[in-house]
Parts: sequence; structure tokens; C-alpha cells
Amino acid sequence: MKKIKKITSIGILCSGGDSPGMNCAIRSVVRTALGQGLKAYGIHRGYQGLIDGNIHELVASSVGNILQRGGTILGTSRSKDFLTIEGRQKAYDNLNAYGVDGLIVIGGNGSFKGAHQFYKEHNIPVIGIPGTIDNDISGTDYTIGFDTAVQCGIEAVDRIRDTASSHERIFLVEVMGRNSPAIAVHVAVCTGAENIVFPTQEIQYERIATDIKRGMLRGKNSSIIIIAEGEKPGLAYTVQNKLKKDFSMESHVCILGHIQRGGSPTHLDRFISARMAFEAVHGLLKDHAPRVAVYREGQVLLAPLDECVKDKFDYEKPYLELVRALSI
Ligand code: F6P
Repeated sequence: MKKIKKITSIGILCSGGDSPGMNCAIRSVVRTALGQGLKAYGIHRGYQGLIDGNIHELVASSVGNILQRGGTILGTSRSKDFLTIEGRQKAYDNLNAYGVDGLIVIGGNGSFKGAHQFYKEHNIPVIGIPGTIDNDISGTDYTIGFDTAVQCGIEAVDRIRDTASSHERIFLVEVMGRNSPAIAVHVAVCTGAENIVFPTQEIQYERIATDIKRGMLRGKNSSIIIIAEGEKPGLAYTVQNKLKKDFSMESHVCILGHIQRGGSPTHLDRFISARMAFEAVHGLLKDHAPRVAVYREGQVLLAPLDECVKDKFDYEKPYLELVRALSI
């Protein structure tokens, strides 16, 4: 194993899908690092930028006036080259060339898997900060961007409800989250949706149709079904076709898509990302174990990286019953 040096300069990158709050985390990493007498380097376009040597020093003013902005000033990517051993070697050589001795990675599950592999091969101290709107990283109750994405979904559904009630319509609103149920569940609970569809579970069309009819009979003038998108957008159209074909029900589809991933981060996303980033820098200075700044029961702490690269299952299941119980 290669020997680990004392940390004097750190690199920071964002990887995978951008999420609101990433800029707050970048700002907090850079300013905490500078306060500790470290140099800070921004790596642009994620792991791909590390491979391509797209690395620039950041000073306090480089991260001024960014915390209220969505996206990431560093850019991000889903790098295929970093999946290869040659790519990771090149990335390591570039870190050495810039004298970067520790790395902070803001991203999701795939990004953490990449960081873990990188650490195992090159023994480079690495700390992850969970950044994804999907809230689907194991070992942490929260990921940066989730609250902003949910808030956006809620505002959209509230608007749709106006039209749905005025025209007595059924709306199928598809939200982001890939295979994660988190955004769908939170938006559904907070908008009084009538039902949720998860792509990872068998879709109970009969039950959806019965619930809609029951609601209409007791005087409801609208129905909103929240659909979690799954691997690719468009599941709402499948549900729409099925409701029409088997139950003669007309419905309207609205796919929210990337609208939910942008925009100014909420208080929660700003506050938690600032805390996670602060802990991440101090974690790098403390020792060199690979870890993630996680959020558990209101606290930000550092957890082993290997706890946070496992798949997360069924964590929102209890709330499905809550949605149904409240929408009678
Ligand atoms: O992981 C974040 C996310 O926004 C998912 O919710 C969504 O399924 C996916 O990324 C979309 O990825 P892309 O922006 O690459 O199409």
C-alpha cells in the first residue's frame, strides 16, 4: 500500500446528477479548508475532470455569492473512464501532479462506489458528501438536494390540483427519483395525493381505479396519483393507457422531470450541506479512513464509506399506507 502523506491540500469534485445545495457544500469545504491553512482545488466536471486534469485552485472569493444557486459551479459528469483502472490511474497521477493529498466527493451512490474503488487502489484519503435529490444513499437519513426537489414537486402538484378540481380531472404526476420512492412519497403525503405508483412494485391498477371511484362517489372533484419514474421517464403514460383501456378512465399526464433538480436550495439543503462539508474537511485532517459525512437523527457525523455504498431498500414503505389512509 502507498504511504499516506500529511494533508496540506484538498481537492473537491461533484459527480453524478447535480443537486441544489452542492454549491453550499463547495463553499463550506473551501472556506473550512482555507481556515485550517489548507489549499483547496476545484476539480471540474467530476471524475472526468480529474482524469483530464481540469483542476484549478480555489480561494475564498472563488466561492462567493454561490450558496443560493442551484446546480454546481464545478460542473459534474457521469464518467465512464473512471470506471476503468487506467482512468483511475490517470486521475491519481493528476492529483499527485497538483499536490492534492485528500479528496472530497459530493455525489450519489455510484460516485461513492467510484471513490471507494479509488481509495482501495491508491490509498488516497477520501470523504463523501451525499448529494442527490433521490435521498437513496444508505447510511444517511438525508442527501443534499432532496428537500428542494420535494418542495418543487409540492408546488407543482398544488398548481395541478387547481386545474384538476376545476375540471374534475384525474392527473398522473410523474416525479424524479429513478428507483428511489423518496420524492414520490414525500410529495404524495404533502399534497394529499390519492395514490402512489412505484416502478419497483407490481402496479395495482384495480386498487387505483377503485380508490378513484370511491373518492368521486363521496364528492371528490379531483384525483392525483404520484408516479415514481423508475429507470427512465414515461411510466405515467403506461398507467394512463391502462386506466383508459381496462377501466374507461380518462386521465392527464404531467412529467415534472428536471424541473425538480434545479433552483435555489431550501434552508434545509443549505444548512445540512454547510454542516456536512465542515465535518468532511475536519474528518480528512483527523485521520485518513474513507468516510461519508452522514445525517442521522438530526446530527451530522462521519460514517465508514463502505456503509454508504450498499443499496437502500424499502425505506419509505410505511408511508405508502399513510398516503392511502389520508386520502379516503
Ligand atoms: O439521480 C438523480 C436523478 O435526477 C434521478 O432522479 C433521475 O432518474 C436521473 O438523475 C436523471 O439523470 P440524467 O439527468 O442524467 O438524465
